[in-house]
Amino acid sequence: MTVVGHQAVDPLWCEEYGYGLGDPTGIFVLKYRSAGALEFGDTRQDFLHQLYWSPDGMLSTLDGPNARFIGANEAFWVHRAMSHHVRAGGNQTVYRLCLREVPAGINDLSVGPVSVDTEAARLIQAIARPGYGEQAALAARGSIMAGLASSQPGFIRERASGAGYARAVARELTHDPGTDCRLDEWAAELHVSPKTLQRDFQREFDMSYTQWRTKLRLQAAQVLLESQPVSKVAARVGYASPSAFISAFAKEFGRTPGGRRSAQASADSEAPPYRTSDPGGRGQQDRDRDLTVDDVPRLPHTVRVIHEALRLCPPAAIVTRMTMRDTVVDGFRIPQGTNAMVGIYTLHRDPELWDQPERFDPDRFAPENSAGRDRWQYLPFRGGPRTCIGDHFAMLEATLGLASIVRTADITALNSEFPIDVPFTTTAAGPIPARLVTRRPVTA
Ligand code: HEM
Repeated sequence: MTVVGHQAVDPLWCEEYGYGLGDPTGIFVLKYRSAGALEFGDTRQDFLHQLYWSPDGMLSTLDGPNARFIGANEAFWVHRAMSHHVRAGGNQTVYRLCLREVPAGINDLSVGPVSVDTEAARLIQAIARPGYGEQAALAARGSIMAGLASSQPGFIRERASGAGYARAVARELTHDPGTDCRLDEWAAELHVSPKTLQRDFQREFDMSYTQWRTKLRLQAAQVLLESQPVSKVAARVGYASPSAFISAFAKEFGRTPGGRRSAQASADSEAPPYRTSDPGGRGQQDRDRDLTVDDVPRLPHTVRVIHEALRLCPPAAIVTRMTMRDTVVDGFRIPQGTNAMVGIYTLHRDPELWDQPERFDPDRFAPENSAGRDRWQYLPFRGGPRTCIGDHFAMLEATLGLASIVRTADITALNSEFPIDVPFTTTAAGPIPARLVTRRPVTA
């Protein structure tokens, strides 16, 4: 099964592959791609265990007070309903595996890094492609689960042996590239001489410990740069001063840190802006076509506009739930069997939760402004087990629909406010006068 779509504060674009769904032995794989940074809040699938893995870069993770990085031969395991946050840098592919069962090798781990062996890595990528057979995928799931092992702190002492010294240090350092632990201190932990450890780094990575650590720090910085200021990133990855960090970064990547941010900000303009009256014109082939799902990653601003519209005008303004047991909300006792109404419209405009809640500001949904937002604060599609199953599709359709309209026409509302009504779902209470100016003639 393959479905494509995107959702709330999660990345813009993903492919979904499900095998044996509904069965405890099933697996659901989400494959995310983006030109910009990817960010995962625990917005859904909170009744499933999750495993995040990226083959081509580091992940920055947060669970409770623990902030760390995860390297490419590791994944981030999250037991169901554990609060967490995961971030990836630009141009990274991230796989998110949703499982009902806990792999045996990580039975006692609630959240944290796990090592992924080469075969598990290969299989994860294989089953997240169209056309993989159900039975083969379920067999692959077994091998993937068998290939996972805990790599929590303590790993260095338990696992390092013989030529594995440098690898063990590398893995530990990956979790916290900002640590100021020196080569001789690592060597002491491993009960080897600094010379032996240095030699092992040369043999394993073809560079010294210091060179390897610099590379790691700069890679880790790339994950954070699109959402955090340079000075904060520099400190997080172990640089005493932002200027030392900037010059090391420029030397490594040939550009200053933060340079990608402006590129991302203008990314919407990369979508073919309008259809033209000159379909055969040179250089117009790309523009003279309908937008497709492939354009969605280039439409982050359009997505934010829709999120903000759904905040101010949630189609489902109220949701009802029958309480299954006695509970207390904000000091009020709610007996079992009560038909409780949750005011989503009110929630989305609560001044204690939203800065200037009546203002239409799509940038609230930029990754840097969404980080740390409570997952239950924004619920246009609701959440939990009975969440809207059409959320991906609805967002995909709305994004392409809106982008298709605004690339052909400028639309300006003539009133600053418009009345809404909630006969059942939220609707406009009357016509909304607007000025519409066609940008270019549109071909039929
Ligand atoms: C902007 C568009 C949409 C919004 C805001 C929306 C919102 C919601 C909400 C709030 C619920 C939960 C209702 C409750 O908990 O009582 C829901 C449920 C549901 N939605 Fe949507 N929805 C949208 C589009 C869609 C689409 C396009 C589909 C199908 C293709 C869809 C299919 C469903 C289904 C089947 C459920 C019931 C899920 C269940 O109870 O297990 N929705 N939707």
